[in-house]
Amino acid sequence: MKIGTPLSGSATRVMLLGSGELGKEVVISLQRFGVEVIAVDRYANAPGHQVAHRAHVIDMTDGGALRALVEQERPQIIVPEIEAIATDTLADIERDGLATVVPVARAARLTMNREGIRRLAAEELHLPTSAYAFADSLDELRSAIDAGIGYPCIVKPVMSSSGKGQSRIEGPDDVAMAWNYARSTGRVDYGRVIVEELVHFDFEITLLTVRSRNGAGQVDTQFCAPIGHIQEKGDYVESWQPQVMTETALARAEDMARTVTGSLGGCGLFGVELFITGDRVLFSEVSPRPHDTGMVTMVTQWQNEFELHARAILGLPVSTALRNPGASAVIYGGVDDTGIAFADIDKALSVPGTEVRLFGKPEAFLRRRMGVALAYGDDVEDARRRALQAASRIRPCRA
Ligand SMILES: Nc1ncnc2c1ncn2[C@@H]1O[C@H](COP(=O)(O)OP(=O)(O)OP(=O)(O)O)[C@@H](O)[C@H]1O
Ligand SMILES: [Mg+2]
Repeated sequence: MKIGTPLSGSATRVMLLGSGELGKEVVISLQRFGVEVIAVDRYANAPGHQVAHRAHVIDMTDGGALRALVEQERPQIIVPEIEAIATDTLADIERDGLATVVPVARAARLTMNREGIRRLAAEELHLPTSAYAFADSLDELRSAIDAGIGYPCIVKPVMSSSGKGQSRIEGPDDVAMAWNYARSTGRVDYGRVIVEELVHFDFEITLLTVRSRNGAGQVDTQFCAPIGHIQEKGDYVESWQPQVMTETALARAEDMARTVTGSLGGCGLFGVELFITGDRVLFSEVSPRPHDTGMVTMVTQWQNEFELHARAILGLPVSTALRNPGASAVIYGGVDDTGIAFADIDKALSVPGTEVRLFGKPEAFLRRRMGVALAYGDDVEDARRRALQAASRIRPCRA
């Protein structure tokens, strides 16, 4: 395995498609290996743009624009960081041998649509999931619920992330509202939804799973300690590592993660989302890339999830060892404005054992994730308390 010199003829070039807070950390990890990094996003000055060698703004769902940029920049490796990408173009690029897509183009295609990954997991791989159905109209949605999903249930656009367009339905009166909400906020105007039985889990985890080459060149699967998290309206607000769970549940979780990531294939880090009730484990979904709840690994692991992803895609060996327990808490914009400031960072960091990451997003919204407070310590409960305390001390304000 060789890495060249950036900005020279020998450079190892990696292109990130999506350059948000997760992409920014992947860029930093790649930069540390002397990789030449090209960051792409749909808006200027995205977090990852600010730390890459070159930055581009394009509509990544436009296959023609994406192909043209790849031909111009000639990266050897393409790393999708978001779901909303022209995945057919990625498949063409992979097939034409233009670049390697991480982990593979098929994984990006299957996970950008909830239907692709749910049918693969439940119907082909036979992983246990919540009961589910797909619907293309309000009538179909009603029939699916009446035919077996029942109430309460959850409706989501098939193409959306971070809880967008998602609602919980308590009874027949809520169905029309959920349908309209999903239609209005789905990522692409593609009027299809998934309706899922509401699972009454004890807790949910992200099992970060890495497929990487070992010293002998074979692909191994390794797992990080499980990450527990709390979601509000489908968006993560707090996470911690390790989440305590039974040996049986952990073994089942690792089995499912090995199966689904093995089926997607390629090398890289995956975030496998699972619902846990006692020893019972249900598969929910998987990201073929670092996961927002995994930001906690920046203070808990020797190699955080971004370094693991960088190593895996470069063909390098990894260690998923936990260093110490820790927690993360999200810092929101608090205001709708551009160029905001963050006051009282000093007060936040006077909480012992804490760190802060501010993503540098040019525009804030009330509930936009702008940063994260991290805390490490001897136990998770204590770390969670301190992460929340640090996050709550930071005051986003108009500049
Ligand atoms: N069937 C279900 N039963 C109970 N809770 C659910 C169910 N589906 C989703 N949730 C809750 O909503 C959260 C978000 O759901 P999901 O992961 O499917 O959406 P998402 O928009 O892809 O979110 P993200 O992109 O942040 O992972 C889950 O983490 C879980 O807390
Ligand atoms: Mg999710």
